[in-house]
Amino acid sequence: MSAISDPLLAVDIHNSPLFYNSKFNILVDDKEIGRRRLWKVIVDHEVVQGYQAALTQGLSTSIKAVQFHTATGVMFFLVTISPLRRSNGKIYGALGVFHDVTALKLAEQMRIDFVANVSHELRTPLTSIKGYTDTLMDDVSQGRAIEEKFIHAIARNTTRLMNLVEDLLDLSSLESDGVLQKVEIETEEFSARILKQLQTTFEKKKHTVSYHADVKMVWADPRRLEQVLVNLLDNACKYTPEGGKISLQWTAQSPESVEVRISDNGPGIPQEHQGRLFERFYRVDKARSRESGGTGLGLAIVKHIMQRHGGSVWVESAPGSGSTFICQFPAR
Ligand SMILES: Nc1ncnc2c1ncn2[C@@H]1O[C@H](COP(=O)(O)OP(=O)(O)OP(=O)(O)O)[C@@H](O)[C@H]1O
Ligand SMILES: [Mg+2]
Repeated sequence: MSAISDPLLAVDIHNSPLFYNSKFNILVDDKEIGRRRLWKVIVDHEVVQGYQAALTQGLSTSIKAVQFHTATGVMFFLVTISPLRRSNGKIYGALGVFHDVTALKLAEQMRIDFVANVSHELRTPLTSIKGYTDTLMDDVSQGRAIEEKFIHAIARNTTRLMNLVEDLLDLSSLESDGVLQKVEIETEEFSARILKQLQTTFEKKKHTVSYHADVKMVWADPRRLEQVLVNLLDNACKYTPEGGKISLQWTAQSPESVEVRISDNGPGIPQEHQGRLFERFYRVDKARSRESGGTGLGLAIVKHIMQRHGGSVWVESAPGSGSTFICQFPAR
């Protein structure tokens, strides 16, 4: 039983522990387990009842997602409890197996949040479109002149919906196995083209953009690399107040990897948000970011692209001292 990777706890008919494996200490870190009664070891009422049902009625029970507060934080377990019988069939105890389902539970929560977020993001522009269309239809039926600004508002919201749906489709194709077309890319030429493409956007906000490269080549999918750079530069531009300094820098930290760093001297990102920034729809300042037309999918797309390249992306930032996003590509 010690070799089983799930925590185990067996008790006798008096509810005193008969046996537990070393893994069980993840759940209950107590040297005295062996001397305590079951309900002193396990607080969850349903689990204690499961043991009782096994001991007194010979029943097997399975309890989904039981929560435990462990040293590493909250964990969830699927608990299966069965009676222990002698060869003559007499019950002498009960055995509980605690199977860790924390990752599953988190994935489930993420799915629920995702659906809620998508629905909300879809509904907001749809509500506007519906409102303006109804007004226009009223105006037409009453013989009033049509307000041009309503049509513009409909067009704006339609574009927003299209962008959102395109980003969502893009994410799902990155998650399923759309193939990357990796080629050798000349960093200098490639970056120059993208900076040129964004030039007017930078000029509008009077940002100064600098460029530096110690690396000549990177092994990447050009379309995807462009998305990464455009997304990160767009964020740097958008979230830095007018007259900011933005830089794009290619470096080789080791013979195995190539890095591109996109830095700005904007407001920076508080530590508590940094871990969640790359989640879909996560925005530090929801109202402000939505106002700027973003959907909060940009960094999620960047993360997926970097993962598909066998690389990674992270942020270094502190409030008041700007942000640097670093993308690391395997050298080959
Ligand atoms: N350079 C930056 N400086 C400060 N905050 C940033 C920076 N880059 C990203 N953020 C924060 O991270 C959030 C998530 O960025 P992300 O690019 O995923 O979404 P978005 O820019 O809001 O929308 P989208 O990119 O989909 O148009 C932003 O809303 C913003 O709060
Ligand atoms: Mg963005």
